[in-house]
Amino acid sequence: MSVVPGTGEAHALSADERRGVYRAIYERRDVRAQFRPDQIPDEVFARLLQAAHHAPSVGFMQPWNFIVIRDRGVRAAVRDGFLRERARAAARYDEPRRSQFLALKLEGILDAPLNLCVTCDPTRGGPHVLGRSAIRETDVYSTCCAVENFWLAARAEGIGVGWVSIVQPDELRRILEIPESVIAVAYLCVGYVSDFSDTPDLERAGWRHRLALAELVFADRWGRPETRLGAAFAARAKRVIDAADLIIYTGSLLGGDGFRDVKPTAKLVDSAGLHLEQIVDLMKAAALDGQVVARVHDGDPAIFGALSEQAAPLEAAGIPFEVVPGVTAALSAAAALKAELTIPELSQTVILTRMEGRTPVPDGEKLRDLARHRATLVLYLSIVLMDRVVGELREGYPDDTPVAVVQRAWCPDQVILRGTLADIVGQVKAAKMRAQALIMVGPVFRDDLRQTWDKKSKLYDAEFSHGFRRGTPRRDAASADDGT
Ligand SMILES: Cc1cc2nc3c(=O)[nH]c(=O)nc-3n(C[C@H](O)[C@H](O)[C@H](O)COP(=O)(O)O)c2cc1C
Repeated sequence: MSVVPGTGEAHALSADERRGVYRAIYERRDVRAQFRPDQIPDEVFARLLQAAHHAPSVGFMQPWNFIVIRDRGVRAAVRDGFLRERARAAARYDEPRRSQFLALKLEGILDAPLNLCVTCDPTRGGPHVLGRSAIRETDVYSTCCAVENFWLAARAEGIGVGWVSIVQPDELRRILEIPESVIAVAYLCVGYVSDFSDTPDLERAGWRHRLALAELVFADRWGRPETRLGAAFAARAKRVIDAADLIIYTGSLLGGDGFRDVKPTAKLVDSAGLHLEQIVDLMKAAALDGQVVARVHDGDPAIFGALSEQAAPLEAAGIPFEVVPGVTAALSAAAALKAELTIPELSQTVILTRMEGRTPVPDGEKLRDLARHRATLVLYLSIVLMDRVVGELREGYPDDTPVAVVQRAWCPDQVILRGTLADIVGQVKAAKMRAQALIMVGPVFRDDLRQTWDKKSKLYDAEFSHGFRRGTPRRDAASADDGT
């Protein structure tokens, strides 16, 4: 999929050029099995080496050399080294992982018409290289940048590259007669290909999947989630939908006419009338046909989204997929109410649940048990059972506990009812609400809190000191907590 951010920046490349750059990045692949024997014209190969040579390097030291290997005997010797190292590596895995490892195609040394060894000479530029004093390995990092430049330029030229690191460095040094002081950083197989896979070979083989970017990005310090990416994820969802060949959407809340900018050839399917097997079969058939499928849920698929039953068959069939997070209805409804679900001294816990109906609820999660916590409680899928809901809630919450009911949050026909446990049933009946509504219960929905405010957080309390601000007057450190 090509992903091109919009920008009005004067120095940005043109839209087409940017599309090309991102396309090379997203469609670059490590190639092992798809090499064709045809030779790469010298002028094309020279362009790739020039691209590599224009990589960034610490202190501009340009520590790289490129050994171009065409000789079949030399390549055969490297392949023997690969086979020996692969056998050693396989011994480290237990079954069935070992057999799975041995079945993977992990090199194309003899299939590709040429190989390239990219080396790093740490002595280049003398002993004191500008920028290398603190991190000695920056010369090797620079060489990796040259490899990536080569790899991306090759993709742009329609040429595949496969990196082979399963060879002992000493063996490579001996075969290629590399001096002791020089490091063999990368051994690459290079050639035209029959095709570039959409996904990494290791992902397709079920070895490893691409990690979720959100889990890898931190804000300011290690481990702190970067929440501003939320908007980027909405954009990500849109890009997936726009690129999809098949869009299966929850039609009860999302109208099919909302899918603008999708491919003209995209097939739109409303999942409202389908059962699980039909949905899964549709997704699998399209994915196995090489199509991009967008399974579009309202809210967030992790909360009452039937995610696991749809994901498991894909996982089992080795079909790669990603889950793009959304905003669950409890949070959209809270925003519609302009309500905070965790107000100090009123509630610091949010329970998302449903009333037991035809879908059973595990022991210990019955509504009357949860009500005893008197926490903020949000009920999905329960509006039609409003009488029973309120009956059970009253076993834990006082009758004057505030209740808000939000139907079709953020849709143009959104309805909000506010009341208490004592009167909300009548309001729901009068409004004839029977579906697509959340019941939000707890003291945080108190009407007076919308205008008067006495429940302040420690976080912004003028007297409270924490890691980012000193309070006045200053408290002694022992009384401080993290303010969250
Ligand atoms: C430093 C490095 C060493 C690698 N070594 C091997 C290797 O020995 N054999 C192999 O099949 N792939 C190797 N790869 C390729 C990775 O498996 C591949 O990049 C990864 O699975 C992601 O797939 P993609 O490059 O197609 O996106 C290597 C990649 C890097 C960056």
